[in-house]
Amino acid sequence: MIDVKFAAPSLPQDGALGLLMAEGEGLTGLAAKADEATGGAIARAIAAAEFTGKEGSSVTILAPGANFGRVVVAGLGKMADLTDRKLEEAGGALAVGLARAPAAAIAADALTPGRAALLGYGAVLRSYRFDVYRTKQKPEDLPKLASLSILTEHPETATGSYAPLQAAARGAYLARDLASEPANVLTPAEMARRLGTLTEHGLKVEVLGPEELGKLGFGAMLGVAQGSHNPPRMVILRWDGGKNGEAPLAFIGKGVTFDTGGISIKPAGGMEDMKWDMAGAAAVAGLMTTLALRRARVNAVGLVGLVENMPGGNAQRPGDVVKSHSGQTIEVLNTDAEGRLVLADVLWYAQAKFEPKLMVDLATLTGAIIVGLGHEHAGLFSNDDNLAGRLLEAGLASGEKLWRLPMGPEYDKQLKSDIADMKNITGRPGSSITAAQFLARFVNGKPWAHLDIAGTAWATKDLPTVPKGATAFGVRLLDRFVAASYEG
Ligand code: BES
Ligand code: MN
Ligand code: ZN
Repeated sequence: MIDVKFAAPSLPQDGALGLLMAEGEGLTGLAAKADEATGGAIARAIAAAEFTGKEGSSVTILAPGANFGRVVVAGLGKMADLTDRKLEEAGGALAVGLARAPAAAIAADALTPGRAALLGYGAVLRSYRFDVYRTKQKPEDLPKLASLSILTEHPETATGSYAPLQAAARGAYLARDLASEPANVLTPAEMARRLGTLTEHGLKVEVLGPEELGKLGFGAMLGVAQGSHNPPRMVILRWDGGKNGEAPLAFIGKGVTFDTGGISIKPAGGMEDMKWDMAGAAAVAGLMTTLALRRARVNAVGLVGLVENMPGGNAQRPGDVVKSHSGQTIEVLNTDAEGRLVLADVLWYAQAKFEPKLMVDLATLTGAIIVGLGHEHAGLFSNDDNLAGRLLEAGLASGEKLWRLPMGPEYDKQLKSDIADMKNITGRPGSSITAAQFLARFVNGKPWAHLDIAGTAWATKDLPTVPKGATAFGVRLLDRFVAASYEG
């Protein structure tokens, strides 16, 4: 992770420099001084590039003078419309432009220290890489940027603002690392082992294996697991930073380390994407890590159900009936609708064991949510308007946007089974909603929200603060949600 530092705003005379420019305002402050130092070369290059400071745009100028190797100017859009999110995105753009320099500075003298910190946050988020399995990388092909100084009037204040952001970035890095691992490496047991190491940040970690899950009556989750040689785990992460005895917030993640579909097997094309099917669990781990790293004044518990959905000789069959931890029976008509089976048991356990204030689950649950919302919003489903509203707000603030979909008895009715309490699939119409209705049967009336992140868990192209690959969607959103609503 890039080392981000904050320093007083004096203009460096050489090296790599990042500048900001608002639309219609030209170069001001340190940026104007840098331009002067280069004899106006920066302004001339900007004009030649027809760069006007539009948000999302940037221009790179090589060797403009005064010993600067590279100057990158990022557009902020209109100053009056500037948001925190746009600053993160500008930080991301500068990190890309400055990546070839081992050390760089960014002039943030026109910003409040809190906003200067957001530049560092965006830069770090955008600079993530997963290089574990590359053995032939040449140094000249790798980014060099290791240290970034952000120049601001109040470096101490900015340093203070940056600390919780860095915690969120570290949580997001963990979630991306976990989600990026291939499924032959990241089995349920291996993921549980890695989550076990989070005790180093002050989390309490408990791991339950198949025997314990059997004793608890996790029939729905174990039905999914039984087709794989890799045994399941449930991991419970606790962060007790709030008042002693106060009910925790509960975050629940779908952790299907690979989803072949089971006997209802998926087509070959694109099946490799199902290594991401544990992204919900990865986000929960990232969130809990963030809360611990920034010593959040809240009690929280994260629970992840880790299984592999395989079509082995002992796999469950379409038509099997399983008994869930709640006691309710489920007719498994499609073994590919496995996420809801895992979550059914973990959700019920979470509410019964921890009596949480609320529960939020994250799951790459349905392909249908991608049809409905594409990759721009995750689906939000909730039995609580207040909770839903606060999540929607945190989504806008963090850039991890949600869109609420309806629920209701008409949808719930479709889960009726001929021989059990419910079946695990419905027809295609509204099938992200009916999946949420299924989950609702396992929350026992507790305030609950379900985030269907199937369309947002990984990116197929580079985004302003997320390189192509695992996004860690949910970490920044829920960190924001917790900070805004529960630490006041
Ligand atoms: N993990 C998938 C959902 C998914 C699909 C996530 C594409 C990301 C991209 C889930 O377990 C699944 O297979 N859902 C089925 C449900 C169906 C069988 C009712 C689906 O969406 O097709
Ligand atoms: Mn599936
Ligand atoms: Zn799945």
